[in-house]
Amino acid sequence: VTPSAKAAAVTVAVAVTVTQEELKRVAAHRAVEMVESGMTLGLGTGSTAAHALDRLGELLRREELRGVAGVPTSLKTEAHAARAGIPMLQLGEAPGIHLSIDGADEVDPELNLVKGRGGSLLREKMIEGAGERFVVIVDESKLVPRLGCTGAIPVEVVPFGCLHTLGLIRKVFDGLPGFRARLRTVVPNPKASADDQEVPFVTDNGNYIVEMFFDDGIRGDLREISDRLLHITGVIEHGMFLGMATEVVVAKKDGTVVVLH
Ligand code: 5RP
Repeated sequence: VTPSAKAAAVTVAVAVTVTQEELKRVAAHRAVEMVESGMTLGLGTGSTAAHALDRLGELLRREELRGVAGVPTSLKTEAHAARAGIPMLQLGEAPGIHLSIDGADEVDPELNLVKGRGGSLLREKMIEGAGERFVVIVDESKLVPRLGCTGAIPVEVVPFGCLHTLGLIRKVFDGLPGFRARLRTVVPNPKASADDQEVPFVTDNGNYIVEMFFDDGIRGDLREISDRLLHITGVIEHGMFLGMATEVVVAKKDGTVVVLH
């Protein structure tokens, strides 16, 4: 066996490290392939959706897409889309939204979602619920057996009487082992002073967020739970997006991309 033949016979294991950020980018680019010229798009919020904004901006600059307009789901997305050069409309100005692209915090086997850990759930639900198609973009770490497995399910509430509303939300899950709920807070400027007080997190709509935690995810009839939450005066909307996703683009660590629907 010649040295070169020997070399050819050796399988070299190359460790390819795909970062989570790269997977988010791959999922976002795959979803943008579904966009056609002339479409009005719902523009999502978060680090995954940001890759879709950058890609859309790039395709518009290269004139590979024309006549596309976006409806932003947050002030942050509005600013990002403006920088990327994406023309924008507000909800209601567009005759219809053809396709929305957004990330998610969790996706269950029925393609129900938790969204809003970035704080934008209300505008996201309004815009993504108004469109014909809602394409969710995630890396595989977002796939869960049950909603609420990996963190909070957020609920947007009116600031007035928020502690009263928090109490009513707790009553929905009365006695459920492992259930906790709290008002989401932030430290306004931790660098300025070590003893800065926490204040409520304020959404783009001037509201507060209650975070609900479940030890092993939320069990039971999700639609019934949703109805009970939405019946509380003071609750505006919650971050369970039930039956809304039409497609979920999942970028996997093994390099494959699957589209679930
Ligand atoms: C913001 C959202 C985001 O889509 C969600 O939090 C996922 O964000 P990321 O892509 O950064 O993981 O719902 O309100």
